[in-house]
Amino acid sequence: MLRIEVLTIFPGLFDAFLRESMVGIAIRRGVVEIAVHDLRQWTEDRHRSVDDAPYGGGPGMVMKPGPLVAAIDSLAGPKGVERTARVVLLSPQGRRLDQPRLAGLLEREPLVLVCGRYEGVDQRVIDLAVDEEISVGDYVLSGGEVPAMVLIEGMVRLVPGVLGNPESVGTESFRRGLLEGPHYTRPPQFGGLSVPKVLCSGDHAAVDRWRAQQALEFTRRRRPDLLESKSHEDES
Ligand SMILES: C[S@@+](CC[C@H](N)C(=O)[O-])C[C@H]1O[C@@H](n2cnc3c(N)ncnc32)[C@H](O)[C@@H]1O
Repeated sequence: MLRIEVLTIFPGLFDAFLRESMVGIAIRRGVVEIAVHDLRQWTEDRHRSVDDAPYGGGPGMVMKPGPLVAAIDSLAGPKGVERTARVVLLSPQGRRLDQPRLAGLLEREPLVLVCGRYEGVDQRVIDLAVDEEISVGDYVLSGGEVPAMVLIEGMVRLVPGVLGNPESVGTESFRRGLLEGPHYTRPPQFGGLSVPKVLCSGDHAAVDRWRAQQALEFTRRRRPDLLESKSHEDES
């Protein structure tokens, strides 16, 4: 059972995401459990404020440490031996997410995903309460909610029993350091283009060989960097 807690000031953003599609199915099947918590529950002032002006001046607001550390402590326990879940802050300054890191996170569940907003969180939250910072790419979004959804969707499809056809995971892009090759479905002719003959031949071995060769070709043309890191891995 994959167990994830999400900490956010916009819990409503997760409503449809957790209900629909593969994540919704996985939750209904009982193989994944996801709880979304409103950070404002851990505020103590009348305005339920979670942000304040930055020390040193400058634009924007910063997420205050008090509510965040209280929330994290209550969901994951204090940092150290008593911690019951791995606490991940979504942050552009974190390590960039890729398929191996996604699989690694799955092994470290239960997780608490902390969604930042504004200019980010007070550094003392990271120092005192966060185990790991993860970025979903080299660009800046307005909040950690969409990055948290990226993590959740990526992990959920790796949970055994979630995908209808588990075999499809093995040949997916990035699983063997390659991109997956092209797909075709009916009709056999479309827009003047035909489906490659081998795919209609019924010769499964030939189809497998063609797919392997296409995967290599796609990767060579589009992401040669993947082949370089693969050859380093194969050497070591
Ligand atoms: C507007 S961003 C803060 C950007 C920050 N001032 C900076 O320049 O690095 C607000 C929040 O969105 C989330 N966020 C934005 N871009 C992200 C990314 N690429 N990966 C993960 N989280 C991101 C983080 O939780 C961040 O605290």
